[in-house]
Amino acid sequence: MSEKIYLYPMWIRLWHALNAILIILLIITGVSMQYTDPSNPLIRFDIAVKMHNISGMILTLNYLIFLTGSFITPNGKYYKLTLKGLFPRLMKQFMFYTFGIFKHEKAPFPVTKESKFNPLQQFTYVIAMFMLVPIVIVTGWALLYPEVVLTKFLSGSGLRVNDFIHVIIGFFVSFFMFIHIYFCTIGATFVSNFKSMITGFHESH
Ligand code: HEM
Repeated sequence: MSEKIYLYPMWIRLWHALNAILIILLIITGVSMQYTDPSNPLIRFDIAVKMHNISGMILTLNYLIFLTGSFITPNGKYYKLTLKGLFPRLMKQFMFYTFGIFKHEKAPFPVTKESKFNPLQQFTYVIAMFMLVPIVIVTGWALLYPEVVLTKFLSGSGLRVNDFIHVIIGFFVSFFMFIHIYFCTIGATFVSNFKSMITGFHESH
């Protein structure tokens, strides 16, 4: 018998949908600017720049909604990482994903209203939302307004260091997204976690 718990309020679902669309747009336009042949680009360079800049600006506003929501609504409690015993908890979940799940063992950290993320989800969501995304946003704005960035950094160009951080962390966000989507397929059924982000209800076994 499957059980349904309301875990994803409307504002989280709307934030998440916009966030996912914008990040996909940022990845496509970013990759086009970085890698494609300028004479035969994936997206015309000036259009890619404009789309990237506008998506980044909307992402910033959307991120501020996530940040404010995380402070003023009960959803923020799910992101409070307890460092004590974190490593053993991460290992326990990791062992479940790599072995236990194939032996049909019970999930070591079942989803409840009090704790909707397992330790690996919580850890990666905290890193993505409170480290990676803010770094990409800040370095992105710095590239838009280079006059505010250090012009020199350890005798090199401050702009280059900033650009390097923006691209590398952007890659990490892309990497996070692919792994995230893969793990979202491990639910009660292949699609049940995706449905949760539409209906708000999480389905457990
Ligand atoms: C097409 C792209 C994406 C899909 C299909 C997707 C799918 C999902 C699904 C099914 C969930 C609910 C399951 C769960 O809580 O783990 C979820 C939650 C979440 N996703 Fe994504 N995601 C995408 C992109 C992203 C991106 C780009 C980020 C951040 C950079 C992100 C961050 C999160 C966070 C923080 C949650 C938990 C929200 C909360 O309940 O507070 N997702 N995602």
